[in-house]
Amino acid sequence: MRLVFLGAPGVGKGTQAEMASAKLAISKISTGDLLRDGVAKKTSLGLEAKQYMDQGTLVPDDVVIRLVEEKIGSAECEKGFILDGFPRTVLQADSLLGILQKHRWDLDRVMYFVLPRDEVIRRLSGRRSCSKCPAVYHVDYVPPRRDGVCDECGAVLVQRSDDKKETVESRLRVYEEQTSPLIAYYKEKRLLAELDGTGRVEEVQERLLALLPRA
Ligand code: AP5
Repeated sequence: MRLVFLGAPGVGKGTQAEMASAKLAISKISTGDLLRDGVAKKTSLGLEAKQYMDQGTLVPDDVVIRLVEEKIGSAECEKGFILDGFPRTVLQADSLLGILQKHRWDLDRVMYFVLPRDEVIRRLSGRRSCSKCPAVYHVDYVPPRRDGVCDECGAVLVQRSDDKKETVESRLRVYEEQTSPLIAYYKEKRLLAELDGTGRVEEVQERLLALLPRA
């Protein structure tokens, strides 16, 4: 199964990708996580990406495409994958087609997450991420057992620097301008499935699994 999770920042793509990849036993490729890892490790890619991420703008296409191409070609992706946060521009989507063609693979579905804007902002402003592991929480909706402490590894929880109000505005604008054209792009290819992102995490997961093509 090869899937793309598409939608505005904060709609729940990462949360659902984490659960679905475990359930379907396929890899999750999150370009945001890969870039943040590069930033934390101060790699040359991370240092280049940081300036864009801090402003809430997109990292240049060629940088992200290289990153994804490398991942898709790795052994861990042979059984399938979920692309979380990629593609985000028409050029990235065209490149993805080319990468898949090289492997003689098709895309099975593009899940388009739909959520009202005020709820998107509530989710982003309350998000807390573990400083050590990939776990993600929300102060009201998905709280950790102990305030400010990760359930999985005990490390301290932090707010992502791009979840500040000004940066969120910029990310939402960039989504509208550069990423939302992909809705029509994938609709035209008959790959788009619209997913209602409201409700509890488990409810959304149930709806998502019901929209997948049968194996
Ligand atoms: P990235 O990390 O991909 O951020 P994003 O797309 O903006 O998405 P988010 O991670 O903010 O949200 P999400 O939809 O995953 O929501 P989540 O599940 O966490 O990208 C960051 C930056 O990297 C970009 O701005 C850009 O600079 C760069 N970048 C990345 N990919 C790129 C690309 N392809 N090209 C160029 N640049 C790129 O949920 C949000 C919150 O809601 C959490 O607190 C969660 O606990 C909570 N929540 C989730 N589901 C529910 C629910 N059902 N009910 C209640 N709360 C919920």
